[in-house]
Amino acid sequence: MSPIIGIINAKGGVGKTVSTVYLAHALTNAGYSVEVWDADPQGSATDWAFTAEENGGEFPFEVSPVNVPQLKKRCTAAEVTLIDSPPLNESILNAIAQRSDALIIPAAPAGLDITRVFSTLASIPEGKPAAVLLTSADPRTVLFRETKELLEESGITIFDTSIRPKQSIRASYGFVPDGLAGYDEVATQLVHLLSLEKES
Ligand SMILES: Nc1ncnc2c1ncn2[C@@H]1O[C@H](COP(=O)(O)OP(=O)(O)OP(=O)(O)O)[C@@H](O)[C@H]1O
Ligand SMILES: [Mg+2]
Repeated sequence: MSPIIGIINAKGGVGKTVSTVYLAHALTNAGYSVEVWDADPQGSATDWAFTAEENGGEFPFEVSPVNVPQLKKRCTAAEVTLIDSPPLNESILNAIAQRSDALIIPAAPAGLDITRVFSTLASIPEGKPAAVLLTSADPRTVLFRETKELLEESGITIFDTSIRPKQSIRASYGFVPDGLAGYDEVATQLVHLLSLEKES
């Protein structure tokens, strides 16, 4: 199986592009060939890769734009394909949800973000694996604990690892990230959830 994984959330600015790029790095580091499909017409992931190259670095994976017709039929040669998505674009989100084998929903532990998690989950075809990744999240806060409880009570799968608010992440746009900021642990769990472990 060479899974295609959509990184979606109907809300903007929740860390979809950061999660796509960092997870792609983490999976590449773990020995997987990775492709990123940028389904966001804003082209943030594509721009990031391009700017990193202008700044003298190169992502160790391909990032290329993809539109709805391509989402339906494009083939992938990579072991793992990640799709970055736009916010608030139902037709693109539906096409990603249909094409993906599994979905990751990045969300910050804040009221509105969690409301959007529920509406995003409602747009996913029944039975397709989906898990929430809490981003910009500080596990020491009450808000974090309340958010986690709410998601758990609703039967939603959450990654064990959450991503802390980090200045290094904010500052990494336009560069090849030089740390994985917890996304290495997310990648390990993802590999496990999808039974993609390599024999060592
Ligand atoms: N864990 C984090 N710590 C600090 N800043 C973060 C973190 N995750 C994301 N950010 C910052 O938050 C902003 C939004 O992140 P990002 O672009 O990944 O969100 P998005 O969901 O892709 O947004 P859009 O919906 O516009 O595509 C960026 O400035 C990014 O650097
Ligand atoms: Mg984005």
